[in-house]
Amino acid sequence: MKRIAIFASGTGSNAREIIEFFKHNKDVSVEIVVSNKKNSGVLSMAQSNGIKTKVIDRDYFYSSEKMVDLLKNDNIDLIVLAGFLWLVPNYLVRAFQGRIINIHPALLPKFGGKGMYGMNVHLAIKEANEFVSGMTIHYVNEHYDEGAIIFQASCDINEQDTADEIATKVLKLEHKHYAKVINQLLME
Ligand code: GRF
Repeated sequence: MKRIAIFASGTGSNAREIIEFFKHNKDVSVEIVVSNKKNSGVLSMAQSNGIKTKVIDRDYFYSSEKMVDLLKNDNIDLIVLAGFLWLVPNYLVRAFQGRIINIHPALLPKFGGKGMYGMNVHLAIKEANEFVSGMTIHYVNEHYDEGAIIFQASCDINEQDTADEIATKVLKLEHKHYAKVINQLLME
């Protein structure tokens, strides 16, 4: 059995897709959902699927290594960031070397780095008059959006697409691919 921990701060639509995908899977289980937002919808969604949740604050995440104990106690094989905005601290990257992945709503290395999240990304893409965007699944290291790329998928952008419309197209790609790529990584 391979065990996943999902980290999410936002609406958690990717987390929901991943939970759905592995719901009846005998080889992979979503063991825990971790969030830094105590009222985020992702927590209630996880709980209603019978998945354990943990709310963390900055001290817990950055000033202790308790996160590692928690994840090791659960025998976590892979940490999946799904709209998790905090930079992953070095101790955690070291403890889970090559076993933390993230999804980014653009074709890295373009439109990545600090501050490049959510609508900021799509507004920048619109501003730059890009005619292609997409999403990137990559390993996580100590720097925002810089780990090795695992998988990318792209979509066309029309001149008249708004940033919101670009966001919708990209999110659709994320939902289509993230869980499948996770599955593939775990089966390797
Ligand atoms: C996604 O666009 C993802 O690429 C980014 O944050 C967003 C999360 O959306 N890292 P959701 O919370 O999964 O709906």
